Amino acid sequence: MELTLEIADRLVAAASAIRDRAYAPYSHFQVGAALLIANNHVITGCNVENASFGLSVCAERNAVAAAVAGGASSILAMAVVTDSSPPASPCGACRQVLSEFGDFPLILANTSNERRITSVGELLPEVFSGAALPRPTHPVES
Ligand code: THU
Repeated sequence: MELTLEIADRLVAAASAIRDRAYAPYSHFQVGAALLIANNHVITGCNVENASFGLSVCAERNAVAAAVAGGASSILAMAVVTDSSPPASPCGACRQVLSEFGDFPLILANTSNERRITSVGELLPEVFSGAALPRPTHPVES
């Protein structure tokens, strides 16, 4: 998919808006993510932390969960907004989760309007994918 300026602007605006809803009372690091899926739909997510820190969930994975729950099976583009400079990029766990849904453009942006365009494939070369797994056998079919 060709990432136009119009799409990038739309995704960054959506990620920026949802970032305000981040629940980050422990790190105070708010993250917003916006995904473009089929039919020009945009799905968003923010990070949600927990007093048991390890249970905190990143904005990117929350956005993916919302998109899948809404019926999406692939992602066309994504924006992530933080207040880091240079713009922060998704953590390793999120890169792996994103890769499940395609190799698509990622716009990394911040609240000062800095942007970097990259892609899932660029951030996670030599990804582990389902293609490496053996075919599942079902007891009834075997
Ligand atoms: N966080 C994200 O939401 N996305 C990332 O890719 C990296 C980190 C969140 C998790 C936690 O709530 C806070 O940022 C600090 O790590």
